[in-house]
Amino acid sequence: MADPGNQFLSYLGKLSDADWAKFVAELQPAIHPVDQKAVRIWFAFFPVKLSKALSQSDDSEATAKKLILKGRYRLADQVDSSAEFLYGHRYWPQVKQAVALHAEGGVQTPLDAQIRDVARKVAGEVNAPVSLLVGITAVAFGTLAQVGLDVFRQPAAAGRYGSMWKKSPEQIVADRAKDDSQGLFGFLRSVNKTFTVTYREYEAGCSFKLTSQQDVTMAGRKYERDYHAEDARCMPGEGPIPVECRSASCGTCWVGILSEASKISPPNQREKDRWRYFGYEGFTGEADSPIRLACQMKAHGNVSLVIAPWNGMIGKLDEKEKAAAAAS
Ligand code: FES
Repeated sequence: MADPGNQFLSYLGKLSDADWAKFVAELQPAIHPVDQKAVRIWFAFFPVKLSKALSQSDDSEATAKKLILKGRYRLADQVDSSAEFLYGHRYWPQVKQAVALHAEGGVQTPLDAQIRDVARKVAGEVNAPVSLLVGITAVAFGTLAQVGLDVFRQPAAAGRYGSMWKKSPEQIVADRAKDDSQGLFGFLRSVNKTFTVTYREYEAGCSFKLTSQQDVTMAGRKYERDYHAEDARCMPGEGPIPVECRSASCGTCWVGILSEASKISPPNQREKDRWRYFGYEGFTGEADSPIRLACQMKAHGNVSLVIAPWNGMIGKLDEKEKAAAAAS
């Protein structure tokens, strides 16, 4: 008789980015507002098409080179830390264990219902609202689908798991809506307003100031910190967001935006075309995509963002998919 766990994993392995997008859209109302965009960003940062291109390749190093991948693009190397920017990450060890156990049972109900069931179970165990568990549980299923059960069921490594967040989820959502005060007559000023960009909400000191005239990557340059030690793609003196061209040509600076879209300048047609070229739009191609090229953004208020851990030209994979679909 077929192993139910294997059947379930084979079902997970067949899901495409479009399938995951559908599940995540269905789950959105059940996810706490603090993590609604973060979950969409996670699935954009770790697309199935990239993981399949690497795992199905005879020479993954050559494939990585062909796709011009830089940074930390392998999810298997960061199973316990890839979702640090989700508030629900504090429950990762428990969620991971529950999802691994669930996978061995090979349940056959719709996946979004399974995600809700596991989230409910863990919420009871950790005594937290289910809404804080749904997003991180979806991420755990997404991780399992890409890295396989043998890697996924390893106990969570020692880590900070949300211990650095010092605010409630409601406070974080409220903070995202606030802007820096512009002083007594600030409302009269239409230029040179000053705002704050936060690039790691869960860690104190991970923010910089910018004026409404500057693009987000330019403003980050002024701040002294060894960003290169944190991310080898960051060049000395260039700030926390990796950049190469600053003209929407290289795709290095892609980020996920946690703030409301009204806080930043909207993407122009060139930026949207480049998303498709780089292949970043795949999961979040919707009109309200949280994915942006930081070098093309100006702030209209305080902005909270997440820096993508890698960059590359995975738009080439979409071309391959289209050709395969046309040939079938
Ligand atoms: S730095 Fe090259 S696209 Fe933004």
